[in-house]
Amino acid sequence: MTQSHSVLLIVGGGIAAYKTPELVRQLAKRGIGCRVIVTEAGSHFVAPLALASVTGHEVHTKLLDLTAEARMGHIELSRSADLIVVAPATADLMAKAASGFANDLASTALLATDKPVMMAPAMNVRMWDHPATRRNLATLMADGVTFIGPDEGEMACGEFGPGRMAEPDVIADAIATRLTGSRALAGRHVLITAGPTVEPLDPVRFLSNRSSGKQGYALAAALASLGARVTLVSGPTGLACPPGVERTNVETARQMLAACQAALPADVFVAVAAVADWRPAETHTRKLKLKGAASMPPLKLAENPDILATLSAPGMHRPGLVVGFAAETNDVEAHAQAKLAAKGCDWIVANDVSGDVMGGDSNAILLVTASGTETLPRQAKTVIAGELAARIAAHLTARHPQT
Ligand code: CTP
Repeated sequence: MTQSHSVLLIVGGGIAAYKTPELVRQLAKRGIGCRVIVTEAGSHFVAPLALASVTGHEVHTKLLDLTAEARMGHIELSRSADLIVVAPATADLMAKAASGFANDLASTALLATDKPVMMAPAMNVRMWDHPATRRNLATLMADGVTFIGPDEGEMACGEFGPGRMAEPDVIADAIATRLTGSRALAGRHVLITAGPTVEPLDPVRFLSNRSSGKQGYALAAALASLGARVTLVSGPTGLACPPGVERTNVETARQMLAACQAALPADVFVAVAAVADWRPAETHTRKLKLKGAASMPPLKLAENPDILATLSAPGMHRPGLVVGFAAETNDVEAHAQAKLAAKGCDWIVANDVSGDVMGGDSNAILLVTASGTETLPRQAKTVIAGELAARIAAHLTARHPQT
């Protein structure tokens, strides 16, 4: 098969490295060629000779190797590929890449490249959950690195949780989509809400919820990586705006509605935000004081506008595809079906938020559309985002081909 695209695969030092010859084979099946760098630690888990055999190319291991450097320098190695893929991306490699280290061939290639980078993390669950790895993940995402996985499951160390490298065929699919379908949403405008809303009672107190914004931001990033012009209307989250996304920051539901209406027309509207259903009926300009109050002040609430229902209503500017989210703690499918009808949207992405979904890094969803329901099992929010973005792109292409 002729290979129209090539990736530079950087193999880190984790047990999952043994799966990389299979990843190379899966890429070859999709017409994607591979050059490989293996770190010193990685070479203990997979033989460079095995990778050289499946790629048909010399495997690079050392930064200061004059012979290898004379044949293909590390700068050229990292620039000749269409995409750099780090698999397994260990905690150490993520830390080096996030900090800009260049003290071995892998980290130098990552710093020297101007090509997009995709990482498939694999590490012990505690290492994945450690605040240092969280920080590095956030930095890398803000730098435009995309992530595939990790999956949740039983790990080589005997523990259970997120940290397993995504399977080679899943990584190969993500790479192929990135390389070949990356412009599937070019020319489309996607409007997306994310995060919580914050409804002030007085200058220091407010009503809000536990939404972190992670799923909405991951979806905004995934849609932008497919070429869409993405407008993200976000409540307060503390997350960095994904590369290529235009963000409007808001606080209240009413501000969020106004910002969404101002951003129309859009081809797609995705309402991921956890909008507060109610706000304090009155916002006091001065802090309510405990001292001197005759009794506990009554908290009167007013209903907020329903942004999803408003933008779903028939009208000139109704986006062609309107997708709502449903945060449920019980009877997920029944509530999702009811919301689909009540809000007038086209799809509902339902998730069970009774566990640690809000604020966490993984999610399991039920996609409810007029043509049926589909379950996406628990995976990293970035993976769920990629899957949803791919379905949105496929729907638009089928229903409204670009003219
Ligand atoms: N939503 C919205 N505006 C609101 C409330 C919700 O746009 N005022 C959107 C959310 O962004 C989500 C969907 O409606 O896409 C469902 O939100 P959810 O909180 O699950 O449901 P509610 O409509 O608030 O209903 P309930 O709280 O009774 O489950």
